[in-house]
Amino acid sequence: MLSRTIARLHKDYVTYRNDGVPFPLESVIAWYVLLALQEQRTIRGNIMEMGVEHGGTAFLGTVALREDEHIDLIDLKKSPRFAKVAERLPTALASRVHFHECSTRAPELAEIAKQLFRFVHIDAGHSKQDVLDDIGRFAGCVAPDGILCLDDVFEIRWPGVTEAIFEAIPSTGLVPFLLVNRKLYLAHKDMAGVYRDMLVAALPEIEVFGNMRHWTEEMLGGVTLIWKQALRTTDLNLLLPSTA
Ligand SMILES: C[S@@+](CC[C@H](N)C(=O)[O-])C[C@H]1O[C@@H](n2cnc3c(N)ncnc32)[C@H](O)[C@@H]1O
Repeated sequence: MLSRTIARLHKDYVTYRNDGVPFPLESVIAWYVLLALQEQRTIRGNIMEMGVEHGGTAFLGTVALREDEHIDLIDLKKSPRFAKVAERLPTALASRVHFHECSTRAPELAEIAKQLFRFVHIDAGHSKQDVLDDIGRFAGCVAPDGILCLDDVFEIRWPGVTEAIFEAIPSTGLVPFLLVNRKLYLAHKDMAGVYRDMLVAALPEIEVFGNMRHWTEEMLGGVTLIWKQALRTTDLNLLLPSTA
């Protein structure tokens, strides 16, 4: 059951990082659902994130790791708040959190840039050139059945992010399948439809939050599912009772 996996991910997340989530509820739910769907379909592989800051999304990925998987985190600096949460992780899990304190442009990431990941999150520099560089260097790291998540598309504060995404994505072979709040999720063409259909099928499992308005729009060569939630609540712990 998907809702059981979602509840487990949330329980683990709040066990380690209990100071709230710095982004909208529906974004967090989307991560839980996508990571749970990957688990359900036994899509395996490591996870990578560029732009960690205090670890809001980094720990969402961390709690979804299987025992043979790790997460590569890249940021110019490790924030004390991130380090404090990382200290709470069990030793075995902490050893699979690989923090690279450097720029996404750093030569030392050359080996990582050759690898494939089941989930890649680009949320580092927010200028047009930053995003062009990050997509250019790391879009090829998305496994055939993996997901690329791009932060801050259509965000009014950083128009360069949107400009870069629309310029760079068409040559990556990736197409969008989900847009929730400011995050755009992409996959290789044949998998994008699979993820989209699974997400629609998953909607009843999260209806505890109210009715998720959803529809599709064509963009960037893909049919993108848009989730727009009319929330009854802001309480993510509603995810928990189904496993209790
Ligand atoms: C928007 S924050 C990331 C937010 C985080 N994903 C979360 O869930 O809260 C952006 C981060 O990207 C980092 N950053 C900016 N430019 C970078 C670069 N060129 N290489 C690596 N990290 C960078 C910043 O230090 C900052 O911590």
